[in-house]
Amino acid sequence: MPIFGSPPHIASNTRPPRRRRRTRRSHNEAPSASALQATARAMMRDHRVRILSNAPEPPAYWRLRVRLQEAIAIRPGQFVMVRTREQWEPLWRRALVIYRAEEHAEGMDLEFLYKVLGRGTMLLSRQRPGDELEMLGPLGNGFPHEADSEAEALLISGGIGLPALYLLAEALARDGRAVRLFHGEPTVEPNAPLPFLDDFARVLGPETITLATEDGSRGFQGLVTEAVQAYLERARPRRAIFYACGPMPMLRRVAEIAVQRALPAYVSLEARMACGFGVCLGCAVKTRFASDRTPHYRRVCVEGPIFRAEEVVWDEL
Ligand SMILES: Cc1cc2nc3c(=O)[nH]c(=O)nc-3n(C[C@H](O)[C@H](O)[C@H](O)COP(=O)(O)OP(=O)(O)OC[C@H]3O[C@@H](n4cnc5c(N)ncnc54)[C@H](O)[C@@H]3O)c2cc1C
Ligand code: FES
Repeated sequence: MPIFGSPPHIASNTRPPRRRRRTRRSHNEAPSASALQATARAMMRDHRVRILSNAPEPPAYWRLRVRLQEAIAIRPGQFVMVRTREQWEPLWRRALVIYRAEEHAEGMDLEFLYKVLGRGTMLLSRQRPGDELEMLGPLGNGFPHEADSEAEALLISGGIGLPALYLLAEALARDGRAVRLFHGEPTVEPNAPLPFLDDFARVLGPETITLATEDGSRGFQGLVTEAVQAYLERARPRRAIFYACGPMPMLRRVAEIAVQRALPAYVSLEARMACGFGVCLGCAVKTRFASDRTPHYRRVCVEGPIFRAEEVVWDEL
C-alpha cells in the first residue's frame, strides 16, 4: 500500500497539490458542513463485498479486510453500516469506521478494526474469508484534515477509537504536516505485538507515537489525555490542533483541554445508530453553533460523526 505517495482513494486527492500559504490559516476555513454532507451523500452506495480475512488482533480487537469491485472516494473518519448476509439476525446494520483503504486493479480493499461487544459484532467475527457482507457507505462528514495547516496535528485515540484516525494520519503526512499520535488502552501485555500501532508507525515514524496504559503495563502510565498534557507542557508547540476519537469521557476531556489552551479540536462522536443515513433521528446529539450559541440537534450519522469540540453540549450526551 502506498503510504507516503498519493493514493487516489481519498476524495481530496483529486485536487492538485495545494501550495503552502504564507499567512496563517484559520481553522474556521475548513470545508463547510453542508459541503461535506453533499459530498458524503453523493458517495453513499450499498456495496456487496467479499471477505479476504477476518482475524483477532491484540490487545482485544479483530481486523477485517474486504474487497470491493470498484474504487470509492473516502474522507478520513467516514464509516460504513455493515450487515452480514444472514439478514434475519440481527436486523440492523452496525457502524464501522473505514480504517485503511488500498486501491488496485481489481477494485479496492478496505480494512476495519473492531471490538466484539454484542450480537452484531459477534456475528461479524464468525464470518470467514469468501463470505459476503453488505456495506452501506461511505457515510458521515469525515475529518477536515485541511484545517489549520500550520498547526501540529495531535491525534488522540482511546481503545477502538483508533481506526478513525489512520486515513487522517495518512492524509496529514502526505500534506507534509507535523503529526503525533497518542493512543490509550487500559492495559497491554508487555511483549504483545501491536500491529495497529505498527501501521501508524510506518506512516508517521515510531518516534511520533505515544502509547499510554492506565495500569502502566506499557508506555506512559496514565490516561491518554494526561500523556497529551505532558507533551504540551514539555514541547510547547507554537500551534496545535486536536483530532480525537474514543470513549465519551476521553473526548470530553480533550474538549476541556482544547478550551483551556485555546486550541481547535475535532472529535468523532459515537452514537447508537439504526439507519446510518439520517432518517431515524436515533443518533441526534445536542450541539451549539459557534456563531449563535443556539442549541441545535444534529445527527451523528449525517452532520457528524466529526464535530468541533466546542459545539458539542457535553452535559447532555
Ligand atoms: C460512526 C461510528 C463508527 C464506529 N466505528 C467502529 C469501529 O471502527 N470499530 C468498532 O469496534 N466499533 C465501531 N463503532 C461502534 C460499533 O458500531 C458498535 O460497537 C456496534 O454497533 C455494537 O454492535 P453489537 O451488536 O456488537 O453490540 P450491541 O448488542 O448493539 O451492544 C453491546 C454493547 O455495546 C454498546 N454499544 C453498542 N453500540 C455502541 C456505540 N455505537 N457506541 C458505544 N457503545 C455501543 C451497547 O451499549 C452495549 O453495552 C462505531 C460506531 C459509530 C457510531
Ligand atoms: S442513525 Fe438514523 S438518523 Fe442517524
